[in-house]
Amino acid sequence: MNAAQELVLEHAVIMKIVVALKAQGAALSSGQAVPAAQLSETLSLLVDFADKCHHAKEERVLFPELAGLPEHAPAVSAFLGEHERSRGNVGAMKAALPKIESDPASRKNFADNANAYVAILLPHIQKENALFARCGEIFSPAENARMAGEFERIELEEVGEGKHDEYRERAEKLSLGVKRVP
Ligand SMILES: [Fe+2]
Ligand SMILES: [Fe+2]
Repeated sequence: MNAAQELVLEHAVIMKIVVALKAQGAALSSGQAVPAAQLSETLSLLVDFADKCHHAKEERVLFPELAGLPEHAPAVSAFLGEHERSRGNVGAMKAALPKIESDPASRKNFADNANAYVAILLPHIQKENALFARCGEIFSPAENARMAGEFERIELEEVGEGKHDEYRERAEKLSLGVKRVP
């Protein structure tokens, strides 16, 4: 059993959101308009799913276990730094959103932070996937079972029952909608 497989599956959902953000950032950078509602939906998914669900599981369950192993502690430290930087980008995008349609500086600020977020998250997910794939061997079956139980507890008590499916559907819808951005 590999408890981290759940996180790898979540990365596939996050990738849909990140790909949408990449298209939005590229459109804004080239002077095209992107509906504020679509940008707001992207930020909502990045906060509620990528951060409060996925990063919470990593930071509170898996990373502390990996950080206890000298071989993997440096990778965990790098991952935590990337989470922090990506949170800064999300905060800046949230701050820029209210004036996105009327203020060119807000559009540029949003686009710069969208592009920076994408530049962090794409390699971040690749590096995590490579390490997470090995967690079945790094940890014993009992350790994996305990982590899986913790993931389930976060899911039920903090994220909310059924929310995971809702986020997956919204990410899918977002990724399809973004293709229509001119
Ligand atoms: Fe992460
Ligand atoms: Fe992750």
